[in-house]
Amino acid sequence: MELLKRKILEVGRVEGEGILKVDSFLNHQLDIVLLNEIGREFYRLFKDYEITKILTAEVSGIAIATIAAQYFNVPVVFAKKTLSKNLDRETYEGEVYSYTKDVTYKIRVSKRYLCEEDKLLIIDDFLANGEAVLGLKQIIDSANASLLGVGIVIEKGFQKGGKVLREKGIEVKSLAIVDDMKNGKINFR
Ligand code: G4P
Ligand code: NA
Ligand code: NA
Repeated sequence: MELLKRKILEVGRVEGEGILKVDSFLNHQLDIVLLNEIGREFYRLFKDYEITKILTAEVSGIAIATIAAQYFNVPVVFAKKTLSKNLDRETYEGEVYSYTKDVTYKIRVSKRYLCEEDKLLIIDDFLANGEAVLGLKQIIDSANASLLGVGIVIEKGFQKGGKVLREKGIEVKSLAIVDDMKNGKINFR
């Protein structure tokens, strides 16, 4: 997606350990005009899949999933990372290993909001090692629902997530794939 790539080149900052900071439009401040185009692009890519629900994980996935969902006209369900009083006790769980923090944590979705008939599109901001998507897939599998595709805003092509998911036969479509960020210079696939 050209508009997105231009924005990344314009305002993206490369930080140590291969981290791409895009706080000014995607991860802190939200550029709604751009997010709207991102939502429209996800719809263009997945409109024939008869999606019934979009699934993401809190926090950064929610804004993009919500804007995309307006095009699909389906609900968004976001997996929760903490056990709050608001969360039903009956949940589907997925495990996510965080490489940066070296801990495994659980993400949960109430059994009320996923059923066997659901055909899901997962949407997320970044794809790095694929752990978040695999945790969400565990939740979908536990509900006996179907994962039809994964829409990612920025895939880091130099980390293993894209390969791992595609090798499992998961339909992954990324709007920008960053192949390397050597010397602070961002190169797209
Ligand atoms: P993975 O799900 O692909 O395995 O991601 P990983 O554990 O490597 O990354 C941990 C968190 O950092 C994830 O957010 C992921 O989206 C985010 N992340 C990974 N690489 C980058 C990057 O280069 N730039 C930015 N800005 N973020 C990156 P999270 O903690 O699960 O979620 P959230 O609460 O931020 O939404
Ligand atoms: Na995320
Ligand atoms: Na994130």
